[in-house]
Amino acid sequence: MEKLIDLLSAAVAEAFAAAGYDPACGKVTVSNRPDLCEFQCNGAMAAAKAAHKAPILIANDVVAKLRGSGLFSAAEAVNPGFINLRVREDCLAAHVDRMRRSEKLGATGEAERRTVVLDYGGPNVAKPLHIGHLRSAIIGESIKRIYRYFGNKVIGDIHLGDWGLQMGLIIAELRLRKPDLPYFDDGYTGEYPQEPPFTISELEEIYPTASAKSKVDEDFARQAHEATWFLQNHKRGYYALWEHIMRVSVADLKRNYENLNVNFDVWKGESDAEAYIPPMLKMLEEKGVLVESEGAKVIPVAEEGDKKEIPPCILVKSDGATLYATTDLATIVQRMEDYHPDKILYLTDKRQSLHFEQVFRAARKSGIVSGSTELQHIGFGTMNGKDGKPFKTRSGGVMRLETLIADITSYVEQKILENQTLSPEEAKQTAKVIAVAALKYGDLSNLATKDYIFDLERFSAFEGNTGPYLLYTIVRIKSILSRYGKPTEDLSIAAADSAEAKALQLTLSQMPDQLAIAYRDSTPTAVCAYAYELAGAVNKFYHETRILTEPDEEKQRGYVALICLAKRALEECIDLLGFSAPDRM
Ligand code: ARG
Repeated sequence: MEKLIDLLSAAVAEAFAAAGYDPACGKVTVSNRPDLCEFQCNGAMAAAKAAHKAPILIANDVVAKLRGSGLFSAAEAVNPGFINLRVREDCLAAHVDRMRRSEKLGATGEAERRTVVLDYGGPNVAKPLHIGHLRSAIIGESIKRIYRYFGNKVIGDIHLGDWGLQMGLIIAELRLRKPDLPYFDDGYTGEYPQEPPFTISELEEIYPTASAKSKVDEDFARQAHEATWFLQNHKRGYYALWEHIMRVSVADLKRNYENLNVNFDVWKGESDAEAYIPPMLKMLEEKGVLVESEGAKVIPVAEEGDKKEIPPCILVKSDGATLYATTDLATIVQRMEDYHPDKILYLTDKRQSLHFEQVFRAARKSGIVSGSTELQHIGFGTMNGKDGKPFKTRSGGVMRLETLIADITSYVEQKILENQTLSPEEAKQTAKVIAVAALKYGDLSNLATKDYIFDLERFSAFEGNTGPYLLYTIVRIKSILSRYGKPTEDLSIAAADSAEAKALQLTLSQMPDQLAIAYRDSTPTAVCAYAYELAGAVNKFYHETRILTEPDEEKQRGYVALICLAKRALEECIDLLGFSAPDRM
């Protein structure tokens, strides 16, 4: 469906042509002075050069032609040559009503149908899920939904860190604690037990203990490295233990991500890349891309014109060990084979930017990806505490995601109970929904690349630029609709009869443009900004309009149709951000 701004531009371009000027000058933009006009066209300035004429004369000519277009209630030429425009209320209402009847509120025209692999989340198995991985999950989930909204096929892959030293550390520690387990008996040939020899809480305690020990106990560190090596060479007992660690951990991760409304399509990890590494290295050597350097095997990736030094991408260390880059490159091989993606998009902390730059260059240089596949890394900043340092618990430890969510939930629950609108049971359920909105919106409303300060009170406030405020606006509309009590599907939007109704319709008409920006730039922040503006327009309209007490039924139907559309638009936005609204709060 065509966008309002394009319809208006077409009409103004026609007027330029009718007046004998270049129609390309007819581009209309949303006014940055809403007090003066709704839309503007600055094309007379550009046309002036070619026509050797003062811009204001051109603007006057164009305005004269616009009188007949039927789209504008006001068209005015202003010095030095601006054209200020207002759209006719009936045209706007008809346009917004077409949006109402279209499937994705007018956004379908952008359908792209690219295949995109989205690598996000990236937790490390057996380590507690902490807020370092929170941003990747939150931002990634939203980008995934935005890409899908625009018709792309997105494969969301969690890419678990499941093959590194942390596994060796756990195995070495378990061996010390429970040496009698059959996994450590080299002579054991029977089936291994189905039951894991640990619970998730034991597992989460084992890792930090082992990790701390390896830093002070050289002998233990050596045992952990050895265990890692044996695991990576598929020693039977170790591999069976690894499978237990995976099952217990993944079940826990699934539960955590579910609470956050984050869903991955594929649960692959670093271990899945393993089989691709030897043939990849062979191919790279044969092609001559992989070269020896100080005993290591590397792909030089520096390019002419580099502003900073880009070191070679190291794939095999001098001791024969492979690295993070080796795994990531092999994972690209696997993804190209499995999905033939048009794009692979990675979401991690921005400290990994250089790593991805090296891997991407290596992938291109070696022909693992062709020119038509786009590789992109979005690096984000950290979530800080009020002291401006990376967020910690009160005791100074790394905050677990679960604890963080529980804290926000109980804070929100307290607030709801104070309002006394919900029963304690409903308050509990609703608090969960609001907490996710508070946390996610608090993150997404900041540009991903920037650090931001986690502020429980501010994020959870029901007023202001917050997730709960958006939910509150939706709940308010739901309440009006339930009190209205009649069917709403067939109502159509009427010409605005107040400044607030018109402002709301204009804001609604911009939704496709704003979502297109969010998609183009992969910025959920743009969805947040739009949703916040829309909620503001809804609330102004609500305060200025008697909806339920309007005696003129025809008018009332128009109002109800308008808030129905606003509700749908807001719900669409929060769905793209990855949260939902309760019925009451
Ligand atoms: N597990 C990694 C970490 O915790 C993030 C993985 C990101 N994805 C990737 N393909 N490297 O830092």
